[in-house]
Amino acid sequence: MAVSLRPDHELHDFQVPKALFRQANLINGNWIGVDAGRAIEVSNPATGGLIGLVPETDREGVRAAIEAAHASFRSWRKTLAGERAQLLKRIHASVMQHQEPLARLLTLEQGKPLSEARAEIAYAASYFEWFAEEARRTYGELIPTQRADRRMLVIKEPVGVTATITPWNFPSAMLARKIAPALAAGCTVVSKPAEATPFSALALGAIAQEAGLPPGVWNIVTGVPAEIGSELCGSPLVRKLSFTGSTQTGKLIMRQCSETLKRLSLELGGNAPFVVFESADIDAAVRGAIASKYRNAGQTCVCVNRFLVHDRVHDEFAEKLVHASKALRLGEGLDDQTEVGPLINDDAVAKVMRHVRDACERGGEVACGGELDSRGGTFFLPTVIVGAKPEMVLAQEETFGPVAAIFRFKTETEAVALANDTRSGLAAYFYSRDLSQIWRVAEQIEAGMVGINEAMISSEVIPFGGVKESGFGREGGSRGIDDYMHTKYLCLGGIG
Ligand code: SIN
Repeated sequence: MAVSLRPDHELHDFQVPKALFRQANLINGNWIGVDAGRAIEVSNPATGGLIGLVPETDREGVRAAIEAAHASFRSWRKTLAGERAQLLKRIHASVMQHQEPLARLLTLEQGKPLSEARAEIAYAASYFEWFAEEARRTYGELIPTQRADRRMLVIKEPVGVTATITPWNFPSAMLARKIAPALAAGCTVVSKPAEATPFSALALGAIAQEAGLPPGVWNIVTGVPAEIGSELCGSPLVRKLSFTGSTQTGKLIMRQCSETLKRLSLELGGNAPFVVFESADIDAAVRGAIASKYRNAGQTCVCVNRFLVHDRVHDEFAEKLVHASKALRLGEGLDDQTEVGPLINDDAVAKVMRHVRDACERGGEVACGGELDSRGGTFFLPTVIVGAKPEMVLAQEETFGPVAAIFRFKTETEAVALANDTRSGLAAYFYSRDLSQIWRVAEQIEAGMVGINEAMISSEVIPFGGVKESGFGREGGSRGIDDYMHTKYLCLGGIG
């Protein structure tokens, strides 16, 4: 069946200009639209309404994108760091200039409240600015020589064609966190955005193109993960792959990339503990808990998954958390009053319900929420469960929804053991005013990132990433560009 789109499709009602709304792949500088019969429908999680269509790219299409990236790498790698920096700065400026329509588009396809979408666009833009600056600092080194007739040095080079596979929960920021360092390093890229939220990625592609990015340097293909993923993983032309998503898919990608021994960055699932010690400032802990737990309706890899609360402060913390959770305004993201939006789809609702049901069957008690809101759809009420236990599913699996499960502990040793009782190790948080305890616990906690008396820890300036089955590689910060460069040793002989 041929799919026809209105050529004047401008999303007028949502204030998203046509130039930013691309229902097409970006391959070698060309926008290639939906073919007959091969399209993916993208809908608004708040209403179920159709937003638009994007191509379901076949293997041939993916190969064309890889070849375009491969061909353009020859010239892009030779551009001066300063030139790449200028271009990234232009992209940063343009993203900020279009912050409002980009945020609206993001909310439309992802569901998060507009205030969070605006923050995500600024967060995405910050990676372009940060890596514009980092592009100029990819220094090598001169090794003190061991022989008078030799000089030994190390230079850094772009790894080559890079593939990025990004999730639906932060479709703009997660992409920018990969694209900006890749381009800054001199790599060319093929990106596969999540099929639920491709339009935010395509809008960034349009902005980069408008800012002067040469054809083929950044290519974007949309479609089903299995086909595109296996092509990207299997291609010998792709030298690096950066993935953010589930641990299960990360393991599959790692297996598929083993044939070509690609460089990998894997930012995978978390199961963040949030420990409230006896000495904690409880009001600050509750504010942190609300901010982290309900960000993006709990659909964030660094969201708290388990609250571990000292016996003596348990009841006060639980009572205040329930009160604050009940006060949150649930609704459509495009309504400026909304604080918590819908879940992405029915599968997400089913998972959250399974976790709540299992917790209740194992002796947990729903203190608030625990079900869909009266408006139905994928609007799940902010939920607090007390009496959580390690044998519950929500203790081991990331719920990825607005469910705050509270566990009780009595000693620091017990708290640390509970916090580390997971195969994941992305983010962890704890609240304490005891300085010795702060050092002890910070050093014992098995996580790549630890928030101490602070629950909003993300930024472009930090090394974002995990340990254990949360993956490896660091994104952002002063190490972020290294993941896109390799080290080359030069030995210069015959020095007279
Ligand atoms: C994530 O959910 O993986 C990222 C969120 C963030 O960068 O804060």
